[in-house]
Amino acid sequence: MQKAKISLVLLMIFLLIVTAGLYGCADSKTKIGILQIVEHPSLNTIREATIAELAANGFRDGENVIIDYQNAQGDPSNLKTIAQKFVNGKYDLIIAIATPSAQAVVSETEEIPIIFSACTDPVGSGLVDSLEAPGGNVTGTSDAVSAEKIMELALKLTPEIKTIGALYNAGETNSVAVINDLKAFAAANGKEVVEATVTATSEVQQATASLVGRVDAVFIPIDNTVASAMPVVTQIAVEAKLPVYVGADSMVADGGLATYGINYTTLGKETGRMAAQVLKGANPGEMPVKTFEDVEIYLNLDTAAKIGVEIPQAILEQAHVF
Ligand code: TRP
Repeated sequence: MQKAKISLVLLMIFLLIVTAGLYGCADSKTKIGILQIVEHPSLNTIREATIAELAANGFRDGENVIIDYQNAQGDPSNLKTIAQKFVNGKYDLIIAIATPSAQAVVSETEEIPIIFSACTDPVGSGLVDSLEAPGGNVTGTSDAVSAEKIMELALKLTPEIKTIGALYNAGETNSVAVINDLKAFAAANGKEVVEATVTATSEVQQATASLVGRVDAVFIPIDNTVASAMPVVTQIAVEAKLPVYVGADSMVADGGLATYGINYTTLGKETGRMAAQVLKGANPGEMPVKTFEDVEIYLNLDTAAKIGVEIPQAILEQAHVF
């Protein structure tokens, strides 16, 4: 009887050790949370390149790290819930793709390292105090582009532009930064800006339609809300023979006429490289925010043909075309 009791106790201790060991193993895997505001082609490209670069640096999902990818479906309240889940779950690193995601995680933690990705205006969006020396637990990559450069290209392709329709979500600080540059360009060059702002993807159709007949061209900054509904914009603009100038290559692929933009695969890779450095012990606050000087022309020749815009040979030769 005594013997049976002792062996039962021994068995229980053994089971406890095994279970604790298993938990310990699961816990010892590094947890990486990826938070993305919405599914649109550019953000998906960035995420895939980031994950591939993490793997190339030895952090492979399901092997030695757990990558928990969560998408907020464009909903700010989802952003907060997911950010809190990552923080309460004591994740080792958070990668936040696009400005609204980055703002959500930055406001939840000052401890867990955060690598933000493709944030157009990290300082103006309150993510870091400076690009050179972010300080704290936050750094990342920025896709800052020049509204002036895009408009200079626009004036080469469609020189008769006098009035520019600005289509964007005024709640996206990444867009506001670029629109301020657009307004400065317009003021300096005698052009007029007409604004059509949205608060959600469902309003994009109406906002685009409101510009038809009132503007000579549409300008869309690197705006997540409009990018998610880009095919709708294209349909209306092509019908109205309105040139649409955009802030990113993916929106040209989706029917925008042209941009002067950066390469988002390169940006995604850089995000992954910075994340790997932090996982190896680097301090994010001491890593400068990475910006990209290499901008290239992207054109949609199908759209050009449909709206009757002829592309000068010299521009065509330097451009990536869709
Ligand atoms: N720059 C955007 C931000 O700061 C994110 C972004 C990356 C984006 N690529 C894009 C938005 C393409 C629209 C289209 O949130």
